[in-house]
Amino acid sequence: MSNEPKHPIPPADATRLAGGAYRTQIVPNRTRVAGAGYQSILATQFGVPSFAGRTERYKIGDRIGGQYEVLAIHHGSMGVVYGTFDHKEQLPRALKTLQERFASKPKMRDLFAEEAATWVRLEKHPFIVRAYLVEKYDSQPYVITEYVRGEEGMGVDLQAWLGHPRLTLKLAVEVALQIAQGMQHAVRKIPGLVHRDLKPANILVDNRARAMVTDFGLVCATEVEAGTPAYMAPEQWRGESLDPRTDIYAYGCILYEMFTGHRIFAAEAVEQWKSEHLTRMPVAPRMLQPDLPDEMEAMVMRCLAKVPGCRPQNWDELVSELAAQFHRLTGQPAVLDFSAYELDVWSYATPAIRCCN
Ligand SMILES: Nc1ncnc2c1ncn2[C@@H]1O[C@H](COP(=O)(O)OP(=O)(O)O)[C@@H](O)[C@H]1O
Ligand SMILES: [Mg+2]
Repeated sequence: MSNEPKHPIPPADATRLAGGAYRTQIVPNRTRVAGAGYQSILATQFGVPSFAGRTERYKIGDRIGGQYEVLAIHHGSMGVVYGTFDHKEQLPRALKTLQERFASKPKMRDLFAEEAATWVRLEKHPFIVRAYLVEKYDSQPYVITEYVRGEEGMGVDLQAWLGHPRLTLKLAVEVALQIAQGMQHAVRKIPGLVHRDLKPANILVDNRARAMVTDFGLVCATEVEAGTPAYMAPEQWRGESLDPRTDIYAYGCILYEMFTGHRIFAAEAVEQWKSEHLTRMPVAPRMLQPDLPDEMEAMVMRCLAKVPGCRPQNWDELVSELAAQFHRLTGQPAVLDFSAYELDVWSYATPAIRCCN
């Protein structure tokens, strides 16, 4: 009998963790995605010219609303995030808004403001980037959030940690547990909430290696389909109704990448991602990372089940399973009690002060 594995291991560079499919895509409802670049798709729906580059209104040194001094500028797929110093509160803050090329579209502006307000409703949690309030400057909506400092030399999001020797199995399990706890909180606050764009670039990792879910920017955008091809569940591709199990599929893709250092499929074009997500199971994680315990492999594969009914059914289930895995792996109990995290008095006090003004 041949020793050929059932799923041949793709060459290391075929599953390297990069590429256009890692960008958020927004496509008109029930329309097939035409190409790998998201810009032309947005151009179709919102009339944004595909040649438009990343743009931002403020430059380093400007003061937004006379209060927030811009110290750094970050770009995501659609947003611009200003790292600022808040001269009124004397604290660092991040201010997120739409890039200028989208900001002129009233529908996009309204969607952004609506989603930002949902994010604020999630309130404080150690594993969610805290959004304090939504304000308008120059008639553009901005969501004001905590500013996250990444680990020295690591960049601020989980993408930077993938495949890095500092992401040990123990840390990966801790991060997995933190993401699940963040999502568990979000769904408890807003029952039925679906993030729709869970991916490593939307998990920030602070300078104590604590993971925080961010970019709750598409949570109830029902009139558009959105997501990032490398992480989109079969039902998302099919334009079916979504529920928290859709995020659990994306979470399975993130765990796969964290535990193996490989993306789940060797796809490139969006159509290829679609067919892989719809029809294929990835190579078993232990074939790429033999040190991974059996139970962890089984859990990842369950998250990646094509049928939502065969996945873990909710975040509570995942939190208890990961806590048990963490205990088995380290001999230590997992921290599920948030009083272990220092109380950030300012993050409670600030919104109250702002509201009273
Ligand atoms: N609160 C924050 N603190 C520090 N950096 C941030 C913060 N939020 C976002 N960033 C940086 O900005 C980038 C884009 O942010 P994100 O919210 O994901 O925008 P988009 O919606 O466009 O994807 C992130 O990858 C990160 O580098
Ligand atoms: Mg993002």
